[in-house]
Amino acid sequence: MILGLRTRCAIILLTAVFGLSACAGGSESAEETPEATPIGSSERGEQLILNYGCGACHTIPGILGADTLVGPPLTDFAHRSYIAGALPNTPENLIMWIQNPHSIEPDTVMPNLGVTEADARDVAAYLLSLD
Ligand code: HEC
Repeated sequence: MILGLRTRCAIILLTAVFGLSACAGGSESAEETPEATPIGSSERGEQLILNYGCGACHTIPGILGADTLVGPPLTDFAHRSYIAGALPNTPENLIMWIQNPHSIEPDTVMPNLGVTEADARDVAAYLLSLD
């Protein structure tokens, strides 16, 4: 059956309206779930990454001069499954890696830069915002 233009428009419009209401329902329920506690300040993390000189070895989006490839690029880091191919990429593991990479990979080239826990949390927050 060939539908008239008017009927087809009506069907498209109805689909759009139902689609939108389904989306609205989805976002309502998302608002009900409590927000995850932020692990740190990504804004502060951005500055700390500059200060600690992570960009001397890594390509990191949004960080001035961080375009080297001594270590792996940290682009889209939120989507990385493993840290250094060894640890699942969770916030806690990332904080641990940033503070003391040798505790995870004894032979890694990445140095221990003496990052404090508070700083590591902010740096991790920034890296995990890269998606
Ligand atoms: C001297 C070079 C160097 C510096 C400086 C350095 N890194 Fe690394 N980084 C590496 C290398 C090399 C690896 C790869 C380690 C491995 O796979 O064993 C790495 C791995 C990583 C990883 C895991 C990446 C992945 O793809 O799994 C993260 C995250 C990371 N570094 C963050 C940082 C942060 C944050 C800083 C600054 C506080 C920093 N690095 C400073 C060399 C460096």
